[in-house]
Amino acid sequence: MTQCCINPSILSADFANLEAELHRISNADAVHVDVMDNHFVPNLTLGLPIVKRLQEISPIPLDAHLMIADPDRWAPAYAEAGLASVTFHAEAALAPIKLARELRARGAKAGMALRPATAVEPYLDMLEELDMLLIMTVEPGFGGQAFLDNTLPKIRRARAAIDGSGLGLALQVDGGVTEETILRAADAGATVFVAGSAVYGAEDPAEAVTRLRAAGSR
Ligand code: DX5
Ligand code: ZN
Repeated sequence: MTQCCINPSILSADFANLEAELHRISNADAVHVDVMDNHFVPNLTLGLPIVKRLQEISPIPLDAHLMIADPDRWAPAYAEAGLASVTFHAEAALAPIKLARELRARGAKAGMALRPATAVEPYLDMLEELDMLLIMTVEPGFGGQAFLDNTLPKIRRARAAIDGSGLGLALQVDGGVTEETILRAADAGATVFVAGSAVYGAEDPAEAVTRLRAAGSR
């Protein structure tokens, strides 16, 4: 059995107590940090100064999900801040290959995200530039939305392409992940799961991480 990764999203945490909230999920694989700019998505969260500080105090690695316009310009600074992984959106990047290389050159894992209606096929020839592919299972912008089952065929196709390529990139899903929906996403081939409300909405977030990890491992 291969153990999956559970990356809780601090979007559902108490923004006034982020340090304590990080320690509540210290058994997780990484903390997923949702950066939103009110342009690429209709919501605004936090930016580089706060992410830098989180990087300094977090007991576990940071996994940034940049839901921002012009990641070509803004994403490299997140890698420079020492984050383990930086994910930009394919729909927003002008030069995704160049950007992925810049992230890797700065020591971060390079991730690329696809909105639910963005096909994976146009990007299959650039998988070798990536350490992680993120398939959104809700429209990005808000926590607490329902998992979109019509993203499952894309997860399966991405899994087949990754396995066929012999590359070791991680397949992450984000949005609406619960103890129930994680079963379908894992069966389809996802191995890294972001969960916001399912973790921080639970009475014991660490226990929720453990339960999700058991449900999502194959
Ligand atoms: C949505 C964010 C997600 C969100 C997930 O735009 O990218 O990371 O926090 O929240 P849940 O798990 O509640 O759907
Ligand atoms: Zn996210």
